[in-house]
Amino acid sequence: MSNRHRFSVAAVLLSLSAAVPAFAAGDVAAGKAVYDRVNCASCHGADAKTSIDPSYPQLAGQHADYLVHALKAYRRGQSNAAPSANIRKNAIMGAFAVQLSDKDIEDVAAYLSSLPGNLSVK
Ligand code: HEC
Repeated sequence: MSNRHRFSVAAVLLSLSAAVPAFAAGDVAAGKAVYDRVNCASCHGADAKTSIDPSYPQLAGQHADYLVHALKAYRRGQSNAAPSANIRKNAIMGAFAVQLSDKDIEDVAAYLSSLPGNLSVK
């Protein structure tokens, strides 16, 4: 490969990485604002790991990509589609997830994953 080709391959790779944001692109501060605005704490706890009922999952320290996937699955679950790996049917979480934009979901996932929790080792 000539140097010229090498350069253009590198340029294409660089522009691709700029166009496709890294997955953990969520904004932690904006995510805290989402958590407060929707009052997720009323069930999951102010620290996101002391929930009001043991059946309500802990969120603090969970991997952001898992949280994004779960929240989008609840949102999809508000349609008539049958449950699947990508569709969670839950009346409570579905009602909250539909209030969230994609950006809200990425931000709140970044926030929750940044909190100290019992779910993952950092
Ligand atoms: C009224 C109570 C309530 C509120 C408010 C609430 N949740 Fe939940 N959340 C639940 C319950 C109950 C579940 C478990 C549902 C199930 O069994 O799938 C859950 C599950 C989740 C899960 C899945 C976790 C996992 O380990 O799979 C995520 C993520 C989540 N909630 C995030 C949020 C966020 C973010 C907010 C605020 C936008 C929020 N929740 C507001 C009750 C609530």
